[in-house]
Amino acid sequence: MSAQRPTALVTGASQGIGAAIAIQLAQLGYDVAVSSTRPEKLADVISQVTQAGGRAAPIALDISSHSDIVRAMKEVVAALGHVDVLVNNAGIPLKKPAVDITPEEWDRVIGTNLTGTFFMSQEMGRHLIAARRPGCIINIASTHGLVGLPERAAYSIAKGAMIHMARVLAVEWAAHGIRFNAIVPGRVDTASRAGSLAEPGYRDMALNRVPLKRFATADEIAAAVCYLASPQASYVTGQALVLDGGLTAQ
Ligand SMILES: NC(=O)c1ccc[n+]([C@@H]2O[C@H](COP(=O)([O-])OP(=O)(O)OC[C@H]3O[C@@H](n4cnc5c(N)ncnc54)[C@H](OP(=O)(O)O)[C@@H]3O)[C@@H](O)[C@H]2O)c1
Repeated sequence: MSAQRPTALVTGASQGIGAAIAIQLAQLGYDVAVSSTRPEKLADVISQVTQAGGRAAPIALDISSHSDIVRAMKEVVAALGHVDVLVNNAGIPLKKPAVDITPEEWDRVIGTNLTGTFFMSQEMGRHLIAARRPGCIINIASTHGLVGLPERAAYSIAKGAMIHMARVLAVEWAAHGIRFNAIVPGRVDTASRAGSLAEPGYRDMALNRVPLKRFATADEIAAAVCYLASPQASYVTGQALVLDGGLTAQ
């Protein structure tokens, strides 16, 4: 990390976990680029990053578009000067029986969660290597990437690959001082997931599987990001940090 203010790009930061990450990083002294497919949704997080004392750069980014990724990275560097930390948070769920998933749905889920994350990381790697700066990349994966549950095939396969991406690129980029880790949340109480939890019996069933008998908060996931981005985690790379209330310990 430089003597200048540290900087971060958080993808999908308009709401939920991404917004919490951007705000906590700002509270730690980061300037933060926040992205959304619809930048008008970023007003609230920008105001909270600014209130926390950080500079906020709004970025329009559809992670499923390679040209968007290349342009967005240039805009972030132009706005903040450099990027120390990339948090690959943008993602979409799909709950559907495997036998019913269409090629279009597969492409959308894999293209957003996996391909988008890879090429965003590639741009970050290129930026850091060209600038000869150390840096840190964090993928927000999911316990669906560790264990198999029904009706989540495309999402789970993408999240599992995001965990392995952290291992592979941690090794490939270690010589450049780039650390790459994954955070693996279990269920997190965010507004966007309220729909599935509203299905009769689903919340109790999901809670019953968690030894701590509650879901994570977005702030708990953000705190783990802040740790992995910090100098305290300087020897941590290629790892998956699981925050699941004990779900996968059983
Ligand atoms: N909530 C959970 O229980 C849970 C558990 C494990 C892992 N996760 C993972 O954590 C991350 C955040 O989850 P969340 O619950 O906070 O979800 P969320 O509220 O739906 O937020 C997802 C974010 O991703 C962005 N996004 C969606 N499609 C995008 C695209 N094509 N390009 C760029 N950005 C895009 C959205 O941005 P705009 O709509 O503003 O464009 C939004 O800000 C996701 O990767 C999710 O898979 C969530």
